[in-house]
Amino acid sequence: MTSQLFRPFSLRSVTLPNRIVISPMCQYSAVDGNATDWHTIHLGQLAFSGAGMLIVEATGVELAGRISPGCLALGSDENEAALARVLASVRRYSSMPLAIQLGHAGRKASSQVPWEGGRPLRPESGGWQTVAPSPIPHQEGDPVPRMLDTAGIARITAAFVDATRRAARLGFDAIELHMAHGYLLHQFLSPIANRRDDAYGGMLENRMHFPLEIFAAVRAVWPAEKPLGVRISATDWVPGGWDIEQSVVFAQALKQLGCDWIDASSGGISPQQQLTIGPGYQVPFAERLRHDTGLPSMAVGLITEPEQAENIIASGAADMVALGRSLLWNPHWPWQAAAKLGAWIAAPQQYRRSVPQGVSQVFEQR
Ligand SMILES: Cc1cc2nc3c(=O)[nH]c(=O)nc-3n(C[C@H](O)[C@H](O)[C@H](O)COP(=O)(O)O)c2cc1C
Repeated sequence: MTSQLFRPFSLRSVTLPNRIVISPMCQYSAVDGNATDWHTIHLGQLAFSGAGMLIVEATGVELAGRISPGCLALGSDENEAALARVLASVRRYSSMPLAIQLGHAGRKASSQVPWEGGRPLRPESGGWQTVAPSPIPHQEGDPVPRMLDTAGIARITAAFVDATRRAARLGFDAIELHMAHGYLLHQFLSPIANRRDDAYGGMLENRMHFPLEIFAAVRAVWPAEKPLGVRISATDWVPGGWDIEQSVVFAQALKQLGCDWIDASSGGISPQQQLTIGPGYQVPFAERLRHDTGLPSMAVGLITEPEQAENIIASGAADMVALGRSLLWNPHWPWQAAAKLGAWIAAPQQYRRSVPQGVSQVFEQR
């Protein structure tokens, strides 16, 4: 039987050779928002994995939108040139579809890199003023973000548009907008972080206003043949917060604006979140969103086994699976999944003699 995980999937003009997506993962290895040799090595290694698409880490549309001082940005010519150098190397040896995740960290910006603690940076350590829908810190005792006014909202929309133009010039095949994990656009969606009483806060329609405005503005300048997806947190895991019902309404609105996929993650808005994690714990969100809206969905979170990934696709729960940590642990996970599921996969000519004895030939002869 042919593997469903290894069936190609088309998003506008882009064809993913299989349904395995490399989930965006911050590397905290940029300098002033500029990609470095770390990114060439890291993304280059993942670009040999044979996955269907690689999504580059959360990238701030302005410097102040970076989660940490080590995060990528795409708000200046210098940021663009640094990423161009990385992509030129990766592209020379891999034809894998490449996407970039664009976002703004809002009140969760200006944080230490995780291995230094991940706590908010104080000004004397290089911290900067954060912004948010409302002047409420993520956690008690954290610095208070500045509430965005209309001019601030317009500036950030313009920054998303500018970063999108840069991504187009860089030749990215797709963009994923980061509206999850408690960052700025999720902060607008969730009643936990959004206490505004203007057109951007209050009832659901108002809380969706800014994220939808950003989506429409990005879609308008992103080439029509290129796909644009969105990652959301399908639930805050906090009673009275954002939940799957609101996510369905939001995904329907995104679909009408031309969204190409919905990537269903969860959490990140509040330290009060209560959840039990286990294998594929977020898959039901991808399934519900796909079923209720007809949008292609991407499932993510503790998808670690080839048979598990195969079942998610074959059962119709999702159209794509995104893997994060499993691919850092084992960048050749897709090769081994192909061997297990009896599928073909692309690999560089230089590595094709690696197939161990007893494992069937998996590498496509191109
Ligand atoms: C090192 C690391 C960095 C991450 N950075 C991002 C990011 O930039 N954007 C994002 O949406 N999620 C980020 N995540 C979350 C992953 O994309 C993924 O959703 C999560 O790890 C669950 O999938 P997994 O169980 O396959 O790792 C990160 C996770 C890790 C481990």
